[in-house]
Amino acid sequence: QCFEEKELSQECRDFISSLPRERGWIRAFSHHYQGFWISTMAIQGVLAFQKNFQAHDTDVLLVTPPKAGTTWSKAILFALLNRARHPNPQRHPLVANNPHTLVLTLELNLYNGNQVPDLTSFPTPRLFGTHLPYALLPASAKDSACKIVYMCRNPKDTFVSLWHYVNRAWSTSSAIDSLEEAFDMFWRGVSPFGPYWDHVSGYWKESLENPHKVLFLKYEDMKEQPTTNLRRLAEFLGCPFSPEEEAKGIVNDISTLCSFDNLSNQEVNKRGKGLYGEANEVYFRRGEVGDWVNYLTVEMTEKLDRITEEKFHSTGLKF
Ligand code: A3P
Repeated sequence: QCFEEKELSQECRDFISSLPRERGWIRAFSHHYQGFWISTMAIQGVLAFQKNFQAHDTDVLLVTPPKAGTTWSKAILFALLNRARHPNPQRHPLVANNPHTLVLTLELNLYNGNQVPDLTSFPTPRLFGTHLPYALLPASAKDSACKIVYMCRNPKDTFVSLWHYVNRAWSTSSAIDSLEEAFDMFWRGVSPFGPYWDHVSGYWKESLENPHKVLFLKYEDMKEQPTTNLRRLAEFLGCPFSPEEEAKGIVNDISTLCSFDNLSNQEVNKRGKGLYGEANEVYFRRGEVGDWVNYLTVEMTEKLDRITEEKFHSTGLKF
C-alpha cells in the first residue's frame, strides 16, 4: 500500500501532479479525479483497476461509499454466495476471518501494487469490493452482465462513522484535527470517494435504469429488515433461497452470522489485525442507525439536511 506520494510509481506521480488536490483525511492528499476525491493511498490502485480489470459476466461487485456498511455487506455477500460450501455457522470462515480478508477491495487490496494481479484463480462467482463511483468503474464492469450490489447509508451516520474511523484507525496519521474540520470537508464533498451525494445518486440512477444490473440497498433498511433484504439480494444474484433452505432457517442463520453482535464479538475482530496492520476492531464501532445525534450540532445537522435535500430532491431518494 502506498501511503505517501513518494511511494507511488513515477507514472502515477506524473499523472496526479496535474490534478487539483486538497489535504487528505489520512496523510498525504485527496486528488480530484474525474469529479471525485481519491486519496493518495488509493489513487494508484484506482488507475490500475480502471485500466486492467476485466469483468466476467458472473462477477459480483459490491460497491459502498466508505463507512456505509462495507464490512457488513462483505460478510453478507460472502455468506450468501458460499452458503452451500459453508453450512455450519460455527465453522464458518467469518468466524476466523475479518470480512475484509475474505472479500478484497479491488483498488485498495488487488490493484494497489506494482504488478497487475492475476484474478483467474478466484472461484466463480468472483466477489469483489470497490468504493469507486459508477462513473469511474471500468467499462467492462458496466458493459458485462456482472451484478453490482450497492449499499449506502444516510449521510449523517456515514460522516460520523468516517470521523471515528479516521481517529481510531489512523490516529497517528490523521490529518484532521477536529470534528468541525472534518465536517467542513465532508460537506464540501471532499471525503474519500466523495462527494458523498454524487456517489449515491450515480448508483441510484443506474439502479432505476437498470434494475437487473444494479441493486441499491440502504444500511437502514438492512438493519430494519435483514431477512427481507437477504431474500431480495439472493433473488437479484440469481440464487434465491429454496423452500428447503427456507424450512431449515438458512436466511435467519446468515442474518445472525453477519450481525454486528456476532461479528464484533469474534476473537479475530476483537484482537486481529487487518491488511494494512490496522486493528480489525476499527471496523466495528456501534453499528446503529442515528448515532449522529450524539455528535452533530444543530447547525451541522441543518447544513447536512439542506444539502441532502438539494442534491437528492429531483432523484426521489430519501433517507
Ligand atoms: P458506526 O461507526 O456507525 O458504528 P464500513 O464497514 O463501510 O467501514 O462501515 C463501518 C460501519 O459499519 C461502522 O458504523 C460499523 O460499526 C458498522 N458495522 C460493521 N459491521 C456491522 C454489522 N455486522 N452490522 C451493522 N453495522 C456494522
